Amino acid sequence: MPEESKDGVMTDLIRVSDANGVRTLRFDRADKKNAITRAMYSAMADGLEEANARSDIRVVVIAGGEGCFSAGNDLMDFMEAPPHIGGGETPPVERFMMALMMCEKPVIAAVDGLAVGIGTTLLLHCDLVYATERALFTTPFVNLALAPEYGSSQILPGIVGRAVASEMLLLGAKWDARKAEAKNLINAVLPTEGFDAAVMEIAQQITQLAPGAVKTAKMLINLPPEDIKDRIVREGGLFAEQLRTDEFKEAVTAFMERRAPDFSKFG
Ligand code: COA
Repeated sequence: MPEESKDGVMTDLIRVSDANGVRTLRFDRADKKNAITRAMYSAMADGLEEANARSDIRVVVIAGGEGCFSAGNDLMDFMEAPPHIGGGETPPVERFMMALMMCEKPVIAAVDGLAVGIGTTLLLHCDLVYATERALFTTPFVNLALAPEYGSSQILPGIVGRAVASEMLLLGAKWDARKAEAKNLINAVLPTEGFDAAVMEIAQQITQLAPGAVKTAKMLINLPPEDIKDRIVREGGLFAEQLRTDEFKEAVTAFMERRAPDFSKFG
């Protein structure tokens, strides 16, 4: 039975599963190419917010189905209830994107097949993105007489450069997995066979790390640019704080004892 979301809606089109410190949020609407409805955004937002709050969850994986990540926002939903930014109630899509942006734990996206519209935009807010050979990325907002969303007009040029970003955001180009990899939109292309397991293995690596240190690194990586001297001071303060943590004591003790560190009790 699906649970009621914080927005008071229910859906079984998002599958939530927790295993060994990894929460997986999976789009499960294959017949509609995983087009995302308001109820699905709400469920994704709930899943992320809960993962962020729970100490036993160390990393989140966002995945789609076999051969399809997501066809983007449900176009019927868009027509019926166009979301707005600012004022009044927060639309589910915004709740989801804010939950993704505010998540203090690493979020990994696993893209097998199509990633259209927000299916690609959301990747810009994930920490690590892996894709199969058959992945295809496109943000056809201009083609639909719409505008870029959720910071993509700033983030994408920052990653790939202005001219290359314009291919996507101005021409609605479709990028295959190799181009996305070459342009640093994704981390790596992995074999389709065993894809989920390979992504899970990467997620498992994160679960073995010191959670406080991981959180600090993610926070620093995502801070807006500042004077490098200010950044060095900021890092120095956090470095000094980490030196006083039990996490650090465990790391050093494990080194001395020639064993793997055990950070399972931290979080
Ligand atoms: N919103 C609502 N329904 C969608 C959808 C979307 N974004 N994308 C696909 N669907 C539905 C189709 O209407 C169809 O439903 P039906 O079987 O009841 O007719 C079903 O999913 C399968 O889609 P179909 O177009 O037949 O599959 P395809 O493999 O030929 O093409 C896409 C897949 C994703 C390329 C194509 O469906 C598409 O372009 N979708 C729109 C993508 C989009 O513009 N997203 C919004 C960006 S802002």
